[in-house]
Amino acid sequence: MVGSGAREHALAWALAKSSDVIVTPGNAGIAAHGLTCVNTPASELDADLFVIGPERPLVDGLADQLRAQGKRVVGPGVDGAKLEGSKAFMKEFFAAAGVPSAAYGTFVDEETAQAFLATMSPPYVIKTDGLAAGKGVLVTNDLEEARLDVHDKLSGASFGAAGTTVVIEEGLDGEECSFHVLCDGTSVLALLPAQDFKRVGDDDQGANTGGMGAYAPMSSMSVTQRDDVMRLAIHPTLAELQRRGIDFRGVLYAGIMLTPSGPKVLEYNVRFGDPETEVMVPLYGEGLYDLLRRVAEGRLAGARATPSGAAVTVVLASRGYPQSPRSGDVIHGLGPDGQLALPHENVIIFHAGTARNDDGQFVTSGGRVLAVTGLGASVGEARRRAYDGAALVTFEGSVRRSDIAKSASEGEQ
Ligand code: AMP
Ligand code: GLY
Repeated sequence: MVGSGAREHALAWALAKSSDVIVTPGNAGIAAHGLTCVNTPASELDADLFVIGPERPLVDGLADQLRAQGKRVVGPGVDGAKLEGSKAFMKEFFAAAGVPSAAYGTFVDEETAQAFLATMSPPYVIKTDGLAAGKGVLVTNDLEEARLDVHDKLSGASFGAAGTTVVIEEGLDGEECSFHVLCDGTSVLALLPAQDFKRVGDDDQGANTGGMGAYAPMSSMSVTQRDDVMRLAIHPTLAELQRRGIDFRGVLYAGIMLTPSGPKVLEYNVRFGDPETEVMVPLYGEGLYDLLRRVAEGRLAGARATPSGAAVTVVLASRGYPQSPRSGDVIHGLGPDGQLALPHENVIIFHAGTARNDDGQFVTSGGRVLAVTGLGASVGEARRRAYDGAALVTFEGSVRRSDIAKSASEGEQ
C-alpha cells in the first residue's frame, strides 16, 4: 500500500483482513494500529499486489515503473492518470467521449480569460489545470472575487505552475455524488455511491478543503440515477480510454453533479477518494483484496461485491486548516494503538496527519489529522457513532464540521 493518509490507513486496514499488508511510508497512526510501515520505496519492495493511494505518484509514473518490473498494480499509468492530472485534458476527453459535463473554456492568457469570465453568469467556477490537493477550485457568486482568482492563478501567485492554466466553467446546480468504479481496462464494477463534504464549515460555508467528512451509501441516489451515470458517463469513458489505447487498471472516481437535466461529471479522479474511502471500504468486509487483485490482473468481469451497512466519517483537522494548518498539538483521547482510549465498537479512527512526540503521545502533523468513522445498520446509526467517537478526541483548535451526513440521516426517518 503506497501512501500516508487516512485513505491508505483505511485501505491497509481493510486489506489486512485477508492478506499481509506493508504500507510505504504510512504514518504513526497506521503503524500503531498494527500495520507494518516501512520507508522503502515501492519499487524496492516485493509483494503480490501494489495499491497506490494518492494521485501524485500515479501522475508521476509509479504504476508504469512497477508494471515494468512485472508487478501487479492497482492504479493507472501516466496516460490514464492524466484524467486527473490535467483538467484541460479531462475536459477535452469528455468532449471526445460524449460525457456530459459543464461548458467551459481553457486559458493561459489573462486578458482572454477575463473576457470569457465576463460572458459567464454566476456562480463562477475557476479551476487550476494541475493538481492542487482539492484546493484549486473557486466557486463564487462574486464576479470581483472570480476576477482576482483568475489573476492570482494565471500569474502563478496562488498555485505556481499547477495554476498557470485555468479552466473557467459553467456553474452547475444539484446534489453531488462521489461515484467510484473499479476498472481493469475492459470491465468496470461500480462501488456504493458516497458523498463528501468539501467546504470547511457547516452548511457548506467557507473554503474548499480536501474533504471534511463523508458517508456511504448515498441512498438518495436512485437506481435510475446510478444507471444513468453508468450509461452516460462511465461506459463512454471506458470506451474512450480503450479507443486511445489506455489500459486503465485502477479506480475511476467520478465527481458527479445530479442536475435537474441529468448527471454531469465535474471531474475524474484516478484513485480512491479521501475521505470517501474511509466510509466505503469498511462496508466491503473481507472482499477487498480479491476485488483489487482482479483489477490488477484484468479479471474483473464477473466479480461480485456484497457491501452491507452504512458508514459516516468525521474529519478532525488541525488548527488553522485549510489556510495555515498547525502541527505539534497533542491529541487527547487516543490509546497506544491510536484508536479510542475508551474502546467503542463500530468506531474506527483512520490517521491522516499524526506523529508521535518524544513522550510517545500522538500529535497533529498536517492539515487533516484524523478521520473518525462510525459503522451502523443505517446512516443515522453510523453518524451517531462517528460523532460519539469524535467527541472523545480533542486537540487545541481542532476544526470539524457538525453536520456531516445530517440531512442524509434525517432523510432516512
Ligand atoms: P472539483 O475539484 O473539480 O471536484 O471541484 C471541487 C468542488 O467545487 C466540487 O466538489 C463542487 O462542489 C464544486 N464545483 C466544481 N465544479 C463546479 C461546477 N461546474 N459548478 C458548481 N460547482 C462546482
Ligand atoms: N474527497 C475528494 C477527493 O478525494 O478528491
